[in-house]
Parts: sequence; structure tokens; C-alpha cells
Amino acid sequence: TTDPLVIFTPSGQRGNFPVGTPILTAARQLGVDLDSVCGGRGICSKCQITPSYGEFSKHGVTVANNALSEWNSVEQRYKDKRGLIEGRRLGCQATVQGDVVIDVPPESQVHKQVVRKRVEARDITMNPSTKLFYVEVQEPDMHEPSGDLERLITALAEQWDLHGVRVDLHILQTMQPILRKGEWKVTVAVHLGDAENPPRIMHIWPGYYDGTVYGLAVDLGSTTIAAHLCDLQSGEVVASSGIMNPQIRFGEDLMSRVSYSMMNEGGDKEMTRAVREGMNALFVQIASEAEIDKDLIVDAVFVCNPVMHHLFLGINPFELGQAPFALATSNAMRLRADDLGLNIHPAARVYLLPCIAGHVGADAAAVALSESPNTSEDLVLVVDVGTNAEILLGNKEKVLACSSPTGPAFEGAQISSGQRAAPGAIERVEIDPITKEPRFRVIGSDIWSNEDGFPDAIATTGITGICGSGIIEMVAEMRLAGIVDGPGLIGSPAQTGTDRCFLDGRTYSYLVWDGSADGGPKITVTNRDIREIQMAKAALYSGARLLMDKFGVDKVDRVVLAGAFGAHISPKHAMVLGMIPDCPLDKVTSAGNAAGTGARIALLNTDARNEIESIVKEIHKIETAIEPRFQEHFVNASNIPNSVEPFPILNS
Ligand code: FES
Repeated sequence: TTDPLVIFTPSGQRGNFPVGTPILTAARQLGVDLDSVCGGRGICSKCQITPSYGEFSKHGVTVANNALSEWNSVEQRYKDKRGLIEGRRLGCQATVQGDVVIDVPPESQVHKQVVRKRVEARDITMNPSTKLFYVEVQEPDMHEPSGDLERLITALAEQWDLHGVRVDLHILQTMQPILRKGEWKVTVAVHLGDAENPPRIMHIWPGYYDGTVYGLAVDLGSTTIAAHLCDLQSGEVVASSGIMNPQIRFGEDLMSRVSYSMMNEGGDKEMTRAVREGMNALFVQIASEAEIDKDLIVDAVFVCNPVMHHLFLGINPFELGQAPFALATSNAMRLRADDLGLNIHPAARVYLLPCIAGHVGADAAAVALSESPNTSEDLVLVVDVGTNAEILLGNKEKVLACSSPTGPAFEGAQISSGQRAAPGAIERVEIDPITKEPRFRVIGSDIWSNEDGFPDAIATTGITGICGSGIIEMVAEMRLAGIVDGPGLIGSPAQTGTDRCFLDGRTYSYLVWDGSADGGPKITVTNRDIREIQMAKAALYSGARLLMDKFGVDKVDRVVLAGAFGAHISPKHAMVLGMIPDCPLDKVTSAGNAAGTGARIALLNTDARNEIESIVKEIHKIETAIEPRFQEHFVNASNIPNSVEPFPILNS
């Protein structure tokens, strides 16, 4: 062929096109990922490209190619109105003039990668459920009677190849004036549908709508509910917020909530109402933080453990309280916001990740999606620390999972000075092994305390308590400094050589900070606090150890620590405490809130929903409650770090 050659980067897709072909047309024919909302009308600017002005080799002859550098009048108008970066062109306006290399920048790709900060984590490929489409609708005509909606649907089919689009009554109620206001040009947000649902119009705006639509990724935990509001076009997190789960008043942990529902007529309904009300309050909060209308939230993904899953859906969790722990369903759920009384767009799609089985829930599935142990070459242990720990062990051969009832201690609950991770909470701790004096850092300040007390800068933020990751470091540092012994007893001033240890009832406590002179709190670690942490970490460790037994290994290649509390857990301190099995420290990484990340992946990429549905079928789940060895491991793991397991790497 003699037609010019067009090459797209970074994909490398290429083809020959006649002179005059719009770049957007060429891109579509080749299946290049180039965005467009206005369908090539020069309005949306989503199709921006950068012609490569570099030298371009053609049939062995090197030619300079800048045939695309000039803006046409549409682009000039666009540039004057909204601005266009020098060197950029609109793909729908630029035409092929000769051989050319076209770069598609990430912002112009629909399936762009949302880069995750951690090096070992895979990036998220955008493939959102809901997209915007600009259409020109045929005006009504006396001679060809048809409804406005039918002509809108025809326009979507003809201009965007979208077929079988449905619409809800509330859209129909406002559609006619919008069509006329936009002079028969409108932008519609269409949920593209899924295995169970046809595509559906979520919103209509007159003319070109220059905004976006949003989705929520929600990690519904027993203690906290955390939500990320994401822009469904850019993939960016535009606001994040969290609240305590209002169900706490019915019981701190899952089993106490299950028993609340067993002992109280209608108790499950009360808890369902509480969690949904809390969720709605959170959504109001996050929407106002982002300054958006809640109606623009058109998609939501939830991850949670099985008890929360049932209570959120309004299913009595009774069966989960007794063997064989039968779930009402372990399949993923595709619902509507108004089915669940959620105060976002009424037709917003709600997706709940599948549960694995028994007590291993959608939160574990989300962790699997985020950390992909099923593709790992080496044997990886993934521990998601929360009120209930989700533990996965595996590699590309097989993956085992269990859940372990750690209790809320790691989230700062049931700890005398414990609190949620928030400004003022101690998150980093060091204790001098000679003087036994603590140094610490609070959230909201990057300055460490020193012996002279706090610099003024920190004193003004106030010190309010110790958060989850802070308490882990605190207890581990106390152990390293000899303030606490292996079985978990805080020593007397005589034994430890510091007056910071004081008799507090029948046991000793350790004074971390005394702010009482300035009206501040007195922060101490009591022997009961140590006990709580011992129980929590023993539950976690024995879950991990049980999976190792089942896998037939006595060590793992690497460990990924994940947890809902914002600040990362320090791998060294987690190991000193004996939370996790012995492993080289450089093989222990923190993943932040992996369940929340899994929710965000499923929100931004609808293909990932299918992926996780097939992954969970391959995960073997282990029920800790009925494994006799779990108890044995638990007892041994109560010591700090452990009474029988050696920690050779830790000790060296
Ligand atoms: Fe909308 Fe080019 S496709 S401006």
C-alpha cells in the first residue's frame, strides 16, 4: 500500500491510512485505547494526542515529520476557551498527512494505569463500570412519531454502538426539558452493565457535561468503616473518610454481634439499620468533603467479612454462629443502592465481592485481589490485621486462607490509652534499653519527642493516645528493653531499674507520657494492655502457623502485612512481638489497607470482578475454629515472641 503509516505509542499498534483520516478514526480501527466522550466533535478534549516530532524512519530513509503540528480552527477555539498544551492535538481533528508516530498520553487512555505507590504491587488498569457519552438526538417530527427516549436510545446505538440501554423512571421524569435545554445535544452517563444487568442510563445533562461521575470503594470492617471516593474517569481517589462502625454498641467483635442477634428478637434488624445509617452518614461526609452531589455516585464496591456481609444485606447471621458456618451465599452480589437503602444515586450499582467460605469473607477475597498470592513465584504469607485477621498463604500452585479472631486490640480498642489512628495518636516508639526512657512520634507531626519533653510544635497538636501500630511498637520495644518479660509481665521498678514502672493495682504499669500538668492525658501501658496484645498476636500467629502446617512448610519466603489502620505496621516490631513467623526482615513488607485497595481495584476495573470470582473458587479455606492444632499454636504463641517456636533470623 502507498497510504501513510501511522504508529501509536506506547501500544505499538500500527496501520496504513489514507491521507486525511482523522487520528481518532485510525485509533478506533486499530483498537488503540484513545478516549472520547464527544464522539469526535471537538468538544471534550479527551482524545488529546502528541504527534511525535522526532525523526521517523520510512523505508530506510529518515525524514522529519511535523505535518501534524498546526492546530485547526476547532482546536484553536478549544484552546482559547479551555486551553490546550503546546504540542498537543485533538485526535479527532488532526488528520493523517504522512507517516507519523502518535503518542497517546496516559490521560487520554480509557484503560490507563492507576499507579500504586508500592513497588511490588501491580498497578490498577482502568475499566470503569460507568462512562460518559455525548450524543446528538434526532428532534421530534410530526411525520415520524416516536418518543424522545426512543430517539435518545437510537442515538446511543448509532453513535456509540451501545445497545439495549435501559432507563429508570426518575431519569425519564427529567429527560424532556434536558433534551430541549441542550438543543438535542446531551451527555449521558451510562452504566455499561454486567453479567446480570443490561446497560442503564444513570444521568443526563444538557449539552456537553464537563464533569465526571464517582464510585465508592468501601471497606466495611467490624470496628471501622473506611471509604474512598474515586473519580471513575481518572481513577483518582478524590476523598477518603472513615467512621467507627455503629454496630460496636451491640458488641466489640463479630461473635458478640452474632450472639446479640441470637439473644434479642429483631437484634439483627437493629444492627442492619445501624450499619446502613452509619454508612449513609459516612457518604454524606465524604461527598461534602469532595464538594460533590451524592447523586453523582453511581457505583459502589463493598468488602467485608461474612458476618458484616450478612448484617449489611439484612440477612440474619445466625448460621455463622455455629458449625458448619453456612453462608447464605458465597457468590458475589450485584445489587442496587436503593435495595440497601443507601443514600447515593438510587440506581447506583452495588457490588459485593464474593466470600471465600465460612468465616473467610469478601475482605480476604479483596486482599487476594490486591496482593495476588495466586501469581506469586515464592511462598507468600499475607496477613491483613484487623478485628478479624484475614490470612492467606500460597503461591501460584495453591493458596490457603483462614480468618482468625484477633479482637480489636490492634485497632487501639480495649487498650487503656488506645485510640484510632488520628492526629495526636502515638504511632512510632523507641525505648532506650539502658535508661528505659521512651521517645515517640505522634500522627500529624514528623518530629520525634526527646528527653526534654515535646518541642512546642508537637505540644500544640496534643498527645491523645496510642494507635494500633503504635501499641505494636510500644509492646515490642518494652520487650526489647526488658520492661516486659517473655510471659508478658511488666517488671517492678527494682527489676527494670526505672520509676516509669509503677504499681497499678495488683500489677505494674509503664508510664509513657504524663501531660497532666498541662491538662493533658496520662498515657500508660498496663499489664492488661499487654495481655490484650498477647491474645491478639497469638490469634494471628496461630492462624498463620496453621496454614503453614496445612501447606506442609515451616517457613515462608516473604510476608506482606496489611491492615486498615493508616500508618504502617513496623515489620521489625511485628516480628519481635511474634505476630508473624520468622522471616528475613527485608522480605517483610507493608501493604497498607489491602482489603480497601482490593475494593478500589474492583471499583475501577470491572474485569477484576470476574477475575476475583474465579480466584476465590481456587482458594482452599481452613476453618480455625475446628482445628485442634490452632489451640496448641495459640497457647505457645502467647509468649513474646513465642514459647516453642524459634525465631532464628530475629535472634541473629
Ligand atoms: Fe472529543 Fe476529540 S473526541 S474532542
